[in-house]
Amino acid sequence: MRVGYVQLKTVFGEKQKNFDKVSDLLKDVDDADLIVLPELFATGYTFTSIEEVESLSENNDGETSQFLQEIGKKTGAVIVGGFVEKFENKLYNSAMMVSKNGVIDIYRKLHLFNKEKIWFSPGNTKLKVNSIKGTKVGMMICFDWSFPEVTRTLSLIGAEIIAHPANLVLPYCQTAMKTRCFCNKLYAITANRIGTEKRGEDTFKFTGRSQITSFNGDVLSLAPSDREFVDFVEIFPNKTQNKNINEYNNVHDDRREEYYWNNL
Ligand code: ACM
Repeated sequence: MRVGYVQLKTVFGEKQKNFDKVSDLLKDVDDADLIVLPELFATGYTFTSIEEVESLSENNDGETSQFLQEIGKKTGAVIVGGFVEKFENKLYNSAMMVSKNGVIDIYRKLHLFNKEKIWFSPGNTKLKVNSIKGTKVGMMICFDWSFPEVTRTLSLIGAEIIAHPANLVLPYCQTAMKTRCFCNKLYAITANRIGTEKRGEDTFKFTGRSQITSFNGDVLSLAPSDREFVDFVEIFPNKTQNKNINEYNNVHDDRREEYYWNNL
């Protein structure tokens, strides 16, 4: 399976400009299976008012969905990318999984970071996997990495790959993902953005270093911290079905669930 990511310097509020950048970065790609784009890749991240968030929001049939379907047509891949979702009058920090035939699934970020708690409602979609060309793919968004429950749950429900759109500002995720992937024996594709966004009273510097991490903790691709970047690698999702670490240890079967939560 050929999987990859786009690391982007998003221009705040300029959806068409960001679509054009992604198209340009993927112009030579015509044979991929799965491509991950950053969190909120077409809108930017540093909002200054709810009205602004709302003005950039869409439903699952908006311009971002249409654009991702076009990219799916051109590349042959399923695309996962972040967008501002408006659903039943609420705003969510969401990711959509899209093929050339339309939207496959939507995930709403469960663990909101910093002022996202002002701009968005907390996610209300269950962690889930979808079968993409026979491979089970789950989604999480950026700060979800800080909650090991997310990767564990996705692993327990059969995820072989986690598509992980991100707008990382802390430096710890890439290292953590090696452990998350090793402990759950699955692949992850973390697509981050670069650049500094200074808007209103907030400034965020996004840390790049997008990463594809293997089920054994190896880093298969690592982007630079300061420029737009695209990379693809060949992976072997079947290998994630073996949850053994050695002859005696298995990351699922060795869990002692009856001792974990009972005395909280
Ligand atoms: C983040 O969750 N965007 C840091």
